[in-house]
Amino acid sequence: MAMVSTYCPQFSGLRRSCLKLDISQSQSFVQHINSQLRLSSSRKPCRAVVAMAGSGKFFVGGNWKCNGTKDSITKLVSDLNSTTLESDVDVVVAPPFVYLDQVKASLTDRIEVSAQNSWIGKGGAFTGEISVEQLKDIGCKWVILGHSERRHIIGEDDQFIGKKAAHALKEGLGVIACIGELLEEREAGKTFDVCFQQLKAFSDVVPSWDNIVIAYEPVWAIGTGKVATPQQAQEVHEAVRDWLKKNVSEEVASKTRIIYGGSVNGGNCADLAKEEDIDGFLVGGASLKGPEFATIINSVTFKKVAA
Ligand code: PGA
Repeated sequence: MAMVSTYCPQFSGLRRSCLKLDISQSQSFVQHINSQLRLSSSRKPCRAVVAMAGSGKFFVGGNWKCNGTKDSITKLVSDLNSTTLESDVDVVVAPPFVYLDQVKASLTDRIEVSAQNSWIGKGGAFTGEISVEQLKDIGCKWVILGHSERRHIIGEDDQFIGKKAAHALKEGLGVIACIGELLEEREAGKTFDVCFQQLKAFSDVVPSWDNIVIAYEPVWAIGTGKVATPQQAQEVHEAVRDWLKKNVSEEVASKTRIIYGGSVNGGNCADLAKEEDIDGFLVGGASLKGPEFATIINSVTFKKVAA
């Protein structure tokens, strides 16, 4: 412990890094801190240790779903442009397709733009679909795939979602890959089984995990105002990270952001952000209000735990 208080880690963003240590000190310190990362609240490591099990940057996405008009979106963009955002966060918003171009042209470059869906392959005779190439053409960097509303209302299955993800990644779009259980699945004790099966469907087909953010969104919490407790979310996030470790690699488990979605708002984001495997949020309703979305983005500050 003496060593820990002597060599408190420095943080660049949210990543742990040790400065001014020689290699042997640095290695033993890193081993020590790694072994401390899943401490219970009664055994906290040194001051300012970041409550973050993964090594990726905090990530917050706003999923605007099928909401907005030209006017309301102009106002939302102007609100977002005038907010002050913490720098250690990747921020993305996903407007409806018809407003993507408008948003891309008027929104600050600080915030990337995402689509809410994309087609499984190249464009062509696919009425109503939007291709990855078209999304890239208007400056879109991300796409949300596997969202529960598309799984359960539109009827998309794992295989179809997997094809979309594989194509989007192959063409260079980042994928926000959504997973999550229905209420009856949770009540039947199947939460992990469902999430792992959905994860596997992505894992079986994606060319690499470099450009994927996993969004854990329990279906019973989406748009219901019934947010998962920080402990419920943390439990699944930790299991997802362990799944990645066992089934993909330790490196991917560490660097892949696992974000939480489901009734996140300005009032509950801080407590959720404090959980060590929660690397950010996917926000629906509350992302339609600029100042509240900014509060959620800035909850990154709660990753830093005062000892
Ligand atoms: P919500 O939606 O924040 O309105 O619950 C989240 C989502 O569907 O991504």
